[in-house]
Amino acid sequence: MQFTASALLLAGATFFSSASAAGIFAMNATAQPGSYVTLTVLNGNVGDNPVCNQTVAIGDLPASGTIACNAGYSVSFTWDTQNAAIMALYQTPTAAPFTYAVPPISNDQTTYVFGFEDDFPDAEASKKFVEFHA
Ligand SMILES: *[C@@H]1O[C@H](CO)[C@@H](O)[C@H](O)[C@H]1NC(C)=O
Ligand SMILES: *[C@@H]1O[C@H](CO)[C@@H](O)[C@H](O)[C@H]1NC(C)=O
Repeated sequence: MQFTASALLLAGATFFSSASAAGIFAMNATAQPGSYVTLTVLNGNVGDNPVCNQTVAIGDLPASGTIACNAGYSVSFTWDTQNAAIMALYQTPTAAPFTYAVPPISNDQTTYVFGFEDDFPDAEASKKFVEFHA
């Protein structure tokens, strides 16, 4: 009986620790030179609405723009050449502005896809990462 109870406790602890592994910091973009950039920032719990998310028109490369964010957050980007990362200057209510490279993932010569995703135990850890980059 003792063994069974411990095994159940252990199973429960494992379940809760993986269930709370839900923090995310991700920047994803799709873009077409001379047309548009869509940039989305997730910086909280998995499943939260994006912190920033908008499609903006751009001209020919190099291009730049600003994406709408929740109050207190901001992101502006530059995209210099087709095969280069989108560089995103991101600021939060608790984190100073910092430039993240959003690396190219794929393209079909028309539409370019970019993104990175970092996973954290919870939203607080995701926000701390953006504050301290560690
Ligand atoms: C971003 O905004 C677009 C247009 O408003 C919407 O269709 C899309 O679902 C949003 N993305 C996310 C991840 O919420
Ligand atoms: C964002 O980009 C990363 C890296 O390619 C990818 O793993 C993740 O699934 C993307 N997220 C979305 C919502 O497209």
